[in-house]
Amino acid sequence: MRARSMELSLITLENLTKSFPGKSSPVLALREVNLEIGAGALYGVVGPAKSGKSTLAKVVALQEKPDRGTVRLDGLNTAGLDGRRLREVRRQVAALDTAPALYAERTVAGNVAAPLEQLGVDGPQRRSRVGRVLDIAGLTQRATQHPGELTDGQRRRVEIARAVASGPAVLLADDPTAGLGADEAGSVLTVLDRARAELGVTVVLTTKDAGVARRVCDGVALLDSGRVVEHGTVLDLLAVPGSRTADALLPAIDTPRSQSAAYDRAADVVLIGFAAVGALLPEAAVRFEVELATIGGGLTRVGDTPVARFRVGVTGRQADSALAWIADRGAHVTHFAAGPRSVAA
Ligand SMILES: Nc1ncnc2c1ncn2[C@@H]1O[C@H](COP(=O)(O)OP(=O)(O)OP(=O)(O)O)[C@@H](O)[C@H]1O
Ligand SMILES: [Mg+2]
Repeated sequence: MRARSMELSLITLENLTKSFPGKSSPVLALREVNLEIGAGALYGVVGPAKSGKSTLAKVVALQEKPDRGTVRLDGLNTAGLDGRRLREVRRQVAALDTAPALYAERTVAGNVAAPLEQLGVDGPQRRSRVGRVLDIAGLTQRATQHPGELTDGQRRRVEIARAVASGPAVLLADDPTAGLGADEAGSVLTVLDRARAELGVTVVLTTKDAGVARRVCDGVALLDSGRVVEHGTVLDLLAVPGSRTADALLPAIDTPRSQSAAYDRAADVVLIGFAAVGALLPEAAVRFEVELATIGGGLTRVGDTPVARFRVGVTGRQADSALAWIADRGAHVTHFAAGPRSVAA
């Protein structure tokens, strides 16, 4: 086997449009999709049911041809490929969703070894590769067990280990956490993250659950009715006012808006980064002699970065100055209502 696991692959999608025959008119599953997925990224495609995620994964995996547009891998236009070149490029692109079921009669290690056997990799080289990907999948202790003895989440991890065993450059994981509980879903995401970090595989995962993207993705695209409606790094999108991705990723604010009427000013404050989360609001209260109440929201993590969204109610003569100061410090402040108690001019 050619060792090519650290050759990272850049994916460029240009004006991808894909339709399927529908009852009365064609269903447009993808509409003019343009995206660039960096080499070695763990990229999330997030969107509601039927938004086109699986279609996108299949088009990138070269299993479906787009009606129009181009899929480039490391700049190579995949549309013109056929025969041997197409098979070679396809081998670099692994897809979890279409993988055959695990062999029930083979051990975990035997399942992971299967694609290597097909490529004629044998002996110590095969054993060492199987050992490495089992370690990445957190399955070293399960190597001699059979799929039937595993949980759904563990089986999903075997599938990932098998998919990356032969060293593909790209892994498409269509809804890899579907049907799993939170702990098992977390373990699956950890394996995808390790595959990216330790094997250099460019991973594209699709999910309906923004929380999945929050855990591990660097970049994310939000699909809606086949269109990319937002894309960027997760941390950048959090700072975009009105971003649907941000709204889905940040802690929910469950407090009714009417509650903010009790304050001179009310605003939603998004803080990205730890120091800011801990210190900014109390410091503003002291500096501007205002009362600053947290009336909704909370803290979470995006990857390793702590982020917070709070709805704050501010009471005091310098309420506006306090909020302006918080914004100057790098927080994203959205004023949404002034209370009936007007701040003295
Ligand atoms: N093979 C097909 N034949 C006909 N229509 C299809 C086919 N595949 C997808 N579609 C349609 O294309 C649209 C996008 O489907 P797709 O499966 O890509 O969405 P999805 O985001 O993966 O949805 P889900 O979250 O439910 O998996 C839907 O309207 C779907 O019905
Ligand atoms: Mg799907």
